[in-house]
Formats: sequence, C-alpha cells, structure tokens
Amino acid sequence: MRLGIITGGGDCPGLNAVIRAAVRKGVGVHGHTFMGFRDGWKGVVEDDSLGLGIPQVTGILHRGGTILGSSGMNPFRVDGGAEAVEATFERRGLDGLIAIGGEGTLGAAAVFADRGLPVVGVPKTIDNDLAGTDITVGFHTAVQVATDAIDRLHSTAESHDRVMLVEVMGRHAGWIAIYAGIAGGADVILIPEHPFDIEDMCRRLRHRHMHRSSFSIVVVAEGAIPQEGTLMLPEPELDENGFPRLGGVANHIAPEIEKRTGFETRVTILGHVQRGGSPVAFDRVLATRMGLAAVDLATAGGWGRMVARQAQEIVDVPLRDAVDHRSVVPLDLYRDAEVFFG
Ligand code: F6P
Repeated sequence: MRLGIITGGGDCPGLNAVIRAAVRKGVGVHGHTFMGFRDGWKGVVEDDSLGLGIPQVTGILHRGGTILGSSGMNPFRVDGGAEAVEATFERRGLDGLIAIGGEGTLGAAAVFADRGLPVVGVPKTIDNDLAGTDITVGFHTAVQVATDAIDRLHSTAESHDRVMLVEVMGRHAGWIAIYAGIAGGADVILIPEHPFDIEDMCRRLRHRHMHRSSFSIVVVAEGAIPQEGTLMLPEPELDENGFPRLGGVANHIAPEIEKRTGFETRVTILGHVQRGGSPVAFDRVLATRMGLAAVDLATAGGWGRMVARQAQEIVDVPLRDAVDHRSVVPLDLYRDAEVFFG
C-alpha cells in the first residue's frame, strides 16, 4: 500500500510519535510505503510532500512539534481545494491517508470519507475535546506544563498575598483547566461548560482569605464565559477560518476581582508553551499505540474511521462520531473540583 500522512491544526506534543509508530509498523510489518504531506491539508491540496521511511522517523519519538509541519487550512474553504486533494490522491497513486488532527482536520477528513476518499483519523489536541475517545494525544503533556506552572505560581502568590489567575488553553472544553486545577490545588476553576458568576467567585475568594490563607490560585480556561448579565467581556477577533482567536480572558477578569475584593491580582497566560516541547511518557505511549492502530486500520480498509482510546483499549470509531459531537468536562468532575474552591 502507498499511504499518505498529514498533521493538521494546532500542533501538540506526541505528533512525531504517531508518525514514527505508523511508519515503523507500516514499513516493517506490512511492507507499505509512505509519503508525508507538509502543513496538514495544505500539503495535499498543493501536492507538497516528502518521502517518509524509517530513516526519516528515527530519533523523533521524544521530539515536540511535527516533522511534517502543520496548518489549519481547510480544503473545503479554498476554491477548488477538495478537487485538488482528490487529484493529488490520483496523481500520487495513494491507497489511503492517515490524518492526525483535531476537529478541523478530522472534520474535513470525515467529509472526504463521505465522498469516498480512503482516510483514517488519529485524534490529537491538547484541548481533549474530541468525542469518541477518552483522551487525545497531547492533552497530558499540556496538563503537566500547566500543573508545573501552577506549582511555581503558588510560592510567589504566597509571598505577596496575591490572587494569581492562570489562563490555560481550552476553547470549548475546560479539560486542561480542570485537570491542572485539581492537580495544582486551584482555589477556583473557570471553564466554558459552566458560565461563572464573578460575584460568587469573589465571595469564595473573600472567604478563603478570611479563614484559610492570604493568597489564591484561580485557573481560567481561555474559553471561560460569564453568566449572562453578570460581566461584559469584549468580543474576540476572528482568525483566518472565521473562528474566535482566544487568549486573554483572564486580563478582563483580574481587574474585576481586584475591584470587588481589594486583593492584589496578577495574570499569567500560559499560551503556546502548553503545546511546545517534549511529550510526557503518557503521551508517547498513547501516540505510539494510536499510530500502530492507525496503520493497522488503514491496512484493513477501515476508511472513514478514527482510532480511539476507550477504557484502556485502543479501538476505532466512525470519524463522524468524533467530529459531530464534543467531549466536555462532566458536571461530576467539576463538582469534585469545587469541593476545594474558596
Ligand atoms: O489546539 C487547540 C488550541 O490549543 C486552542 O485551545 C487554542 O485556542 C488554539 O489552539 C490556538 O491556536 P493557534 O494560536 O495556533 O491558532
């Protein structure tokens, strides 16, 4: 078989581990050949590729980023993009494509699968918001980065009797915030799934500073939203795909906290540091298992499906299941975290 591989959307630690595993097993066990397309779907549209053999994937297991490059380009939003993808398949004699991505990249993959193109998916996003899988590649590394940051902010918060807002990624789902918040002992966690009441949050902080401590850590997901009518936040600008460019919500919440409580408040926005660097061991293992499963799925002709992890097992599910729904933080988990608020 001749298989293509792409990595699309926001990068994350573990992408190279997926590529390495797929190529090692594809070449070594199944006798396939591979080509990598540069920068996600863009490389397939423009037929911009590189050969991928064992030498190209040697030594990349622990490396962050992606040797293939990445972009958020959606072929269905580009004039003639879908036809260009189909032409590249034809020209290159591809038997199939392994698309490693989040909702955008796999959303396009699902549409191509519906049009009869042989595509399988691998779920990656630090946000962990894809459905059909318990976990996505990159999530655990982002949680570790955020937890380390919270640990460091604790000591300086304590020295200066401050409220520290730590903003983490998570546009639709607060998975990083809830995991890092629980792991780091956050005193309040704000996530998109549960619109917050600024006054209720300030009440919890006042209570904590009166009875327990002189400092607080508040973890804020970038997609956190206030309850209607409680706080006005500016509309975010849109990116090239028409999606809101998030980042910075904590800068608008901090002055409100200071105004309402009188506590000195500081903001740390972790941003892309959560997506950079080496994957933690969990992500290396997950990525490796998913890469192996993806090449097996392609070999078996499981087109239109995505590898997934469910209750420790690596399984596969329809791509549509992953992209038509969203995995969000369940209320029970938020309630567990809430025990430690205030
Ligand atoms: O990968 C998803 C994500 O991390 C979001 O949480 C974040 O809003 C977005 O990527 C930012 O990506 P970029 O700056 O690359 O557009």
